Amino acid sequence: MAEAEPVKGVPRHVGIIMDGNGRWANERGLPRSLGHRAGTKNLRRVISAAADAGVKYISFYAFSTENWKRPAEEVSGLMDLLAEFIDNEVSDLHKENARLLHIGHLDGLSPLLKKKVEDAIELTKDNTRINVIIAFNYGGRDEIVCAVRKLIAEGVAAEDINEERLSASLFTAEIPDPDLIIRTSGEQRTSNFMIWQAAYAEWSFPKTYWPDFDEKALQTELENYAGRERRFGKISEQL
Ligand code: FPP
Repeated sequence: MAEAEPVKGVPRHVGIIMDGNGRWANERGLPRSLGHRAGTKNLRRVISAAADAGVKYISFYAFSTENWKRPAEEVSGLMDLLAEFIDNEVSDLHKENARLLHIGHLDGLSPLLKKKVEDAIELTKDNTRINVIIAFNYGGRDEIVCAVRKLIAEGVAAEDINEERLSASLFTAEIPDPDLIIRTSGEQRTSNFMIWQAAYAEWSFPKTYWPDFDEKALQTELENYAGRERRFGKISEQL
């Protein structure tokens, strides 16, 4: 992957846990599916605003390995929204020089949807303005288990396993760790999102439901981030 230059004070990688679609819909007397639809529509403006601000990687937690436990109708609605997102948005994202990536398992998706995702990844693979990572059928614990299995399958000796090696076996091998993770809707949980990679991430929990989280809300988060001191285990004087 072409290395994206970091911009000072701007998080290189922002992760977003898009929470609150259901409550957004409930408050309007709408079915949950319309909350997810509004949440999907919101992706575009947040991606553009992030790219304008100099963010080089933005990841969205769209469907977790645990979300299969939701009612079948909601699960199939989320699959349809991923297909619609690709059909409706990817050609514009491509024009905007955005690269689409996926983390998680595509094998759990229908062959048609899997192909759509693979084609979108292929189409945008040389784009450099921003990397848009869709975590779909993704779970952090599962990702670590898969990485360990991979290392064992490669015959790596126990004493040769270290943090770098494990990181390089994750779905995110080519992606820098998130600097800032935003979970909308006020809930304060990781919900299995990038649990390895988030070791030194700054977290933020704005109360806004995801469909209402706009460019201004992102700007506020980026300004707050710029004011934080990241010490990575050190003390201020050492930085
Ligand atoms: C959490 O809100 C949201 C999800 C589990 C799904 C997020 C998915 C999308 C925005 C659309 C699909 C994504 C793509 C990339 C096309 P919730 O339903 O748990 O909300 P609640 O806590 O208010 O009920």
